[in-house]
Amino acid sequence: MRKFKIETWGCQMNEYDSQKMAGILKSYGFEETQNDEEAEIFILNTCSGREKAAHKIFTRVGVIRKNLGKDKIVGITGCVASHEAEQLFKKIPKLNFVLGTRSVHLIAKAVKTALEGKRFCDTSDHPESIEISPDLVDRQKKVKAYVSIIEGCDNFCTYCVVPYTRGRERSRPVEDIVEEIKVAVNKYGIKEVELLGQNVNSYNYNGKTFKDVLIEVDKIKELKRIRFLTSHPKDFNEELVKVIASSERICKYIHLPMQSGSNKILKLMGRKYTREEYLEKIDMLRSYIPDAVISSDFIVAFPGEEEEDFLLTMDAIQKVQYDNIFSFKYSPRPKTAALRLKENVVSKKIADKRLIILQKYQEKVQEIKHKNMEGKVYEVLVESVSKRNKTRLTGRTEGNHVVNFEAGRGEDLIGKFVKVKITSSTFTSLKGILV
Ligand code: 5AD
Ligand code: SF4
Repeated sequence: MRKFKIETWGCQMNEYDSQKMAGILKSYGFEETQNDEEAEIFILNTCSGREKAAHKIFTRVGVIRKNLGKDKIVGITGCVASHEAEQLFKKIPKLNFVLGTRSVHLIAKAVKTALEGKRFCDTSDHPESIEISPDLVDRQKKVKAYVSIIEGCDNFCTYCVVPYTRGRERSRPVEDIVEEIKVAVNKYGIKEVELLGQNVNSYNYNGKTFKDVLIEVDKIKELKRIRFLTSHPKDFNEELVKVIASSERICKYIHLPMQSGSNKILKLMGRKYTREEYLEKIDMLRSYIPDAVISSDFIVAFPGEEEEDFLLTMDAIQKVQYDNIFSFKYSPRPKTAALRLKENVVSKKIADKRLIILQKYQEKVQEIKHKNMEGKVYEVLVESVSKRNKTRLTGRTEGNHVVNFEAGRGEDLIGKFVKVKITSSTFTSLKGILV
């Protein structure tokens, strides 16, 4: 049997696409491996969100070619593929195939063509790529099921490459979403689902909105946890929060990227909300769900960001007291509108300094928040066993906190819910014991 290896970079949507491609290839008789030597076909499912991520791909192809032999088949899929298409063959002459985000359903065709010694490239926008049979998504050994509900993005935030790599917004019918989750539940025993979309709040199919999706998914009784990612603050509303608050199974964890705390920068970013509106939404959320776990993304050093703008970002962070922050230095991306801004570019030195200030502050916040969790008991869904020590397990709380704990038993607990008492913590991690 011919063996393939998929290496996934980037976001959950990429992880989900990788599972689709693995399922399709297996249905054609290919076998998956994690072993570099064994694999005949390498699929690099790539991310172009920030420049660094895009660069890593080129290095990786080089390493495969150099260390593993000339006869390996190498294909690039995902956002870098969508973005660069045929040009990738010029940059990487020995590349075998290129498949865009809206062509993932063609993976078997791409691999077969490559095995016949021909190149294959398809980066066009196939509407059917979003709808492959739910049976084909490979959820083996997975504890949580990613299920996309809307793909693409129409927001065109000025820094973001996603509208160019994942195309226009397209929502899936609610029935298809429910069907896919039911297959994951019945075939793989999955108890947690994460609904995916670049902006889940703009879900719209035949008049149904995101809240309707949540209500329908909440009816699948075998599920214990329902999560979703990502919410755009402009569309995050009270109606939705009420649905979350009233459900036993929708996790009280919200990722609500603010990006900047300065109205001037938010405007330049094309985010379509003000800092005041954002902070009001946080208050509204906490009025219904006082202990909601909230995380955010921030970009520092966007063009035109002055010291006072950065201080406004820090002020917002201090006001909200986030449970987690993903922070980035602005990275110019091809095709995006921010490239044409006339504003001053922020020097690397200042950008580095601002990122460190933000991260150091957040470390302190998280240290305190984690300390407050010590001594308390949390329900944890077990995800994996430590490679070095088979009695050490890792899982997540409802609030998406990663917990490491000693259990005395190993693999048979994966996929199960257990109660764990937190015994110690740092700003990045929580340790506990099974109770
Ligand atoms: N530069 C830096 N960060 C970016 N992000 C998206 N595009 C860029 C960029 N060009 C960040 C945003 C987004 C997260 C997924 O990645 O914060 O929310
Ligand atoms: Fe990118 Fe903005 Fe769409 Fe998010 S909402 S994917 S940041 S364009």
